[in-house]
Amino acid sequence: MGGLYEKLVEYGRSDFYPYHMPGHKRNMKGQPLEEYYNIDITEIDGFDNLHQADGILLECEKRINRLYGSDETFFLINGSTAGILSAVSCVVETGGKILIVRNCHKSVYHAAYLRNCEIGYLYPKLSDRFEIAMGVSSEDVRQRLETEEGIAAVVITSPTYEGIISDVEKIVETVHNYRIPVIVDEAHGAHLGFSEKFPESAVSAGADLVIHSLHKTLPSPTQTALLHVSGNLVDRNRLRRYLSIYQSSSPSYPLMAGMELCFDIIEKDKEKLFNRMYEYWEEMLGKLEQCQVFRIMRRQDIVQEGMKDFDVGKLVISTIATKWSGQQLYDILLHKYHLQLEMAADSYVLAMFTIMDTKEGYERLTKAILELDRQAERKSCITAKNAGVKNTCPEISCKLTEAMDGEKEWVNLMESRGRTAADFVNLYPPGIPVIVPGEIYDEEIISRIRDFRRHKLTIQGLNEKMEVICTAAGGRTRS
Ligand SMILES: Cc1ncc(COP(=O)(O)O)c(C=O)c1O
Repeated sequence: MGGLYEKLVEYGRSDFYPYHMPGHKRNMKGQPLEEYYNIDITEIDGFDNLHQADGILLECEKRINRLYGSDETFFLINGSTAGILSAVSCVVETGGKILIVRNCHKSVYHAAYLRNCEIGYLYPKLSDRFEIAMGVSSEDVRQRLETEEGIAAVVITSPTYEGIISDVEKIVETVHNYRIPVIVDEAHGAHLGFSEKFPESAVSAGADLVIHSLHKTLPSPTQTALLHVSGNLVDRNRLRRYLSIYQSSSPSYPLMAGMELCFDIIEKDKEKLFNRMYEYWEEMLGKLEQCQVFRIMRRQDIVQEGMKDFDVGKLVISTIATKWSGQQLYDILLHKYHLQLEMAADSYVLAMFTIMDTKEGYERLTKAILELDRQAERKSCITAKNAGVKNTCPEISCKLTEAMDGEKEWVNLMESRGRTAADFVNLYPPGIPVIVPGEIYDEEIISRIRDFRRHKLTIQGLNEKMEVICTAAGGRTRS
């Protein structure tokens, strides 16, 4: 069992009296979460300091680092968000330019905002069959780097929220020809590379900075994540500085022990656990072949679209050919079958599987989907709109920072055509913006947001009165 966890437990049972934080003083006997409080300490003697690790925390980081094989690995206790903010801030100067995929997570945009970056976009193409954003190709990246001056770094997301994996190795090779670093938001891929049956990780593909949310796909507590750094394009001291700016100065020891325990499980039983997951997964996909109207995303669909791979663990069930919206299917699965999925978009739902899922978990969803597939009515004419990316590139009127920091006002969505967004609008989850501050509302964006509302999806950035935040016309400010 993990050295940190054991040491915390032992300390909790000792007679050392705490004249220090946290305020609960490990004196919560009989309270809910008593065990948790007993190991919740601060940076006391013998327990190291995450922001200057040279003891037990450094040992934990090194142990985890050996499993992934990067040059150095840092614990993140504020999620991948903190890793992305730090990585981007580290490689781009204030006002510098970054090239990012348009369907990246909000945290990448927030990093760009904080650094007042100029943003260049890579627009992933939409899958013909699923209308879901794919990844990016090395050729797209090469063309942009060839024609645009001053790009300081490239940020890609792989796997995407829906599990699409780009050819990270080729992208890294291309970008390194320009002597600039690649940041891979691999928040959804902390489990990659632990078995031959799974795609390789961006760390093995040579990416300079890779961010993993442990809590998303491995048995680790919420908020736990890792940042890996490799190569000589990234200034490590600068990276450490940003990590200590964006992360709490009081990192949670239970969270760090949770990360260590997660890798105890993996080190001990990696082969068995990943093989079992793969076996259950294959069996489920085999049975779901029987679906007549639901479309199940598979590896071959993704490869046909020119992408490298598809994540084992992301089940995308498309309702595109049925009369149901994604939200309707999600609601039926929730209320009738008591199956809580990860998210609903307008034309699909997403379920996530990890090494901790039981056979029952696979079987219940498979059974429900097959049953519902027999009930779902086929749509005669198939039209669906994607939740993350539009087909055309939206026009941009000003920088993200300018739009976010300037005067703003609420504008009715129906009257927003031609207006500049001053805030993000996105479905949550996944937190991928439909419109980014500085972009101009057009008919396509407006109609997509209206569709989201019609389908009762969870939208951030749109209020109950169907208003969105735009830059102020004529200097009025109401937001
Ligand atoms: C692609 C992607 N990147 C980054 C994040 C942020 O991760 P965290 O919640 O660990 O901060 C998310 C969260 O959903 C995400 O989907």
